[in-house]
Amino acid sequence: MLARLKAAATAYIILYLLTILRVCETMEYNFWPLPTHCFKFGFYDESCPDAEKMVTSVVQAHFRSNPGIAPGVLRMHFHDCFVEGCDGSVLLDPTTSNPNPEKTAFPNLTLRGFEVIDEAKRKLEAACPGIVSCADILAFAARDSVQVTGGPCYQVKSGRRDGRVSLASEALTNIPRPQFDASDLIQNFAAKGLSVEDMVTLSGAHTIGRSHCSNFAPIRSNDIDASFAKSVSEVCPTASVNNTVYLDGNSPNYFDNSYFKNLPAKKGLLVSDESLSLDSRTSNLVLNNANDADTWKKEFVTAIMKMGTIDLKLAGNSDDSEIRKSCRQINPQS
Ligand code: HEM
Repeated sequence: MLARLKAAATAYIILYLLTILRVCETMEYNFWPLPTHCFKFGFYDESCPDAEKMVTSVVQAHFRSNPGIAPGVLRMHFHDCFVEGCDGSVLLDPTTSNPNPEKTAFPNLTLRGFEVIDEAKRKLEAACPGIVSCADILAFAARDSVQVTGGPCYQVKSGRRDGRVSLASEALTNIPRPQFDASDLIQNFAAKGLSVEDMVTLSGAHTIGRSHCSNFAPIRSNDIDASFAKSVSEVCPTASVNNTVYLDGNSPNYFDNSYFKNLPAKKGLLVSDESLSLDSRTSNLVLNNANDADTWKKEFVTAIMKMGTIDLKLAGNSDDSEIRKSCRQINPQS
């Protein structure tokens, strides 16, 4: 009896090990453990070979007529990934059944560049209907936005599927606020699997683009350069004035490391920006990035690729996902 039990247990263990081996055979692992058959470089190489090129040309064309779309689209990718993962949920419009999607939350009211994603999607649907997700289009377009502003070139893994859930309340709890201090920021990014280093590196995206007065006015009086404070106050005396100030006043359209040079000089526009220079856990990282642009750019590539993998919905791991026909609406359910 004991021998029979032993034999049965051994057989069970062997079967179990064989099953694990089979699963691992079909799943190659890399630094971020995701199944590479669902999420990889060149995911559309066969199904829609020109997908990435088409997105790039749309971004470039829009950028030529309105350079502001580059910071807009880069920020949109960040806000997408931090809420429900990188699943295009930020792109959904209000409907009668979902009147308050992410887009209607306060931090998203100032997003810009939706027309870029719409046009890329229109072109891709004409060329390869039902193949390329809105979440991937946004990740490609963010990459192209970095590149057109003089930032590093990098490749984007794809295979993201689009989500069907989009709630303003989730945007409010997940997107970091400009009033956050370093501790809040560290905690907020850690909740998304991103380190202190990733957080500081990615904040360097504030080397391009602008902020509305509502995020910082009236500008604080301590920890800030007096002449910088004066010039900012002239444009934004109060939060209700509908003006904007560049996040990096030295080179607002250029993806360089001057944002990091501003912070030790006490010229960080947002409380959250300046806090990176005031906290011992982040101030040296700021100085490193200010002193070595090349290393920061390399680290930015690694960090944004990592950000692009937050809570992915992939074929096989997400029932409630789809390839949307329009980036503004979930597909009607049959
Ligand atoms: C660390 C926490 C962060 C906070 C608190 C924060 C907050 C903000 C705020 C308040 C604005 C101004 C928006 C406006 O008024 O129009 C802004 C702009 C911007 N943010 Fe962030 N952000 C953070 C991190 C990031 C990250 C990680 C990225 C991208 C990787 C990013 C990319 C941008 C860009 C490019 C703009 C300029 C947008 C435009 O010109 O339309 N931010 N951010």
